[in-house]
Amino acid sequence: MAIQWFPGHMHLTRKAIQERIKEIDVVIELLDSRLPGSSANPMLAELTAGKPALKVLNKQDLADPERTALWLAHYNAMPGVRALPLDASMTTPAKALVAACHELAPNRGGMAKPMRVLICGIPNVGKSTLINTLKGKRAAKTGDEAGVTKIEQRITIADDFYLYDTPGVLWPRIIVAKSGYNLAASGAIGKNAFDEEEVALELLDYLRQHYPATLEARYKLTGVAGQTDEQLLDAIGRKRGALQSGGRINLNKAAEIVIHDFRSAVLGRITLETPEQFAQWLAEGKQI
Ligand code: G4P
Repeated sequence: MAIQWFPGHMHLTRKAIQERIKEIDVVIELLDSRLPGSSANPMLAELTAGKPALKVLNKQDLADPERTALWLAHYNAMPGVRALPLDASMTTPAKALVAACHELAPNRGGMAKPMRVLICGIPNVGKSTLINTLKGKRAAKTGDEAGVTKIEQRITIADDFYLYDTPGVLWPRIIVAKSGYNLAASGAIGKNAFDEEEVALELLDYLRQHYPATLEARYKLTGVAGQTDEQLLDAIGRKRGALQSGGRINLNKAAEIVIHDFRSAVLGRITLETPEQFAQWLAEGKQI
């Protein structure tokens, strides 16, 4: 079973971005550093084609630094694109963002031609948090409900630098099954849209292959690379006391533990896709 994700209508957001984009010099797209490919909405790329783009790899504190470097190099090699890593602990992110935008649109700036920047990102990627930091006060609401940022706003970063929030909600779009699992694991799509056990098994499958030492250390296991995902989930449930009557493992509880440990970075700094893997998924995957 794939993820049952049916986001709200996107046509209002599409129309609003189409309208706004005419007066925009640079588009900032916030991505989740743990899943940069999957957290990008392809509709945005289509709507903003030809505009200079700044990819901000947010939540870098949760991601694998080596893989963040791979993604940055991947984006920075694209014409008209710059990429920056960011996280909420940075109290003054404006300087780097402003500098990158000026590099992307060197003809803008000064009172006659202020820089106009659109900031976009799927819910939960950290847009409100960043906007709050840029504003210097907690005016934009943050929360863990997908889609909290709804009202378009203009933020003045400098006298000649305006930042526009996305008009509407840019829901994630699942284009290959693996992206759906990664979005679910990260918390980007609603809890009711997926089966936690299935997502945890997919997550364990990836971690077993790419981060076996992390799994072994966290759950005090050995030889995880040679186990099936089901065996692993079972073993984790046993170790963590996720039991039900009769001493059987409560697999749903075990799944919740694995997903929680990933999201909170208790497992360590993990990235669920590399540029190469993501390209391969797109190439071989059944597009949804
Ligand atoms: P959104 O507007 O894009 O929907 O996202 P928002 O800023 O509300 O952030 C979603 C969650 O991600 C929040 O956590 C926020 O604190 C967290 N977050 C944002 N940026 C970063 C970052 O760079 N690193 C880390 N580790 N977390 C980040 P929450 O648990 O939903 O809310 P709260 O408990 O922090 O208030």
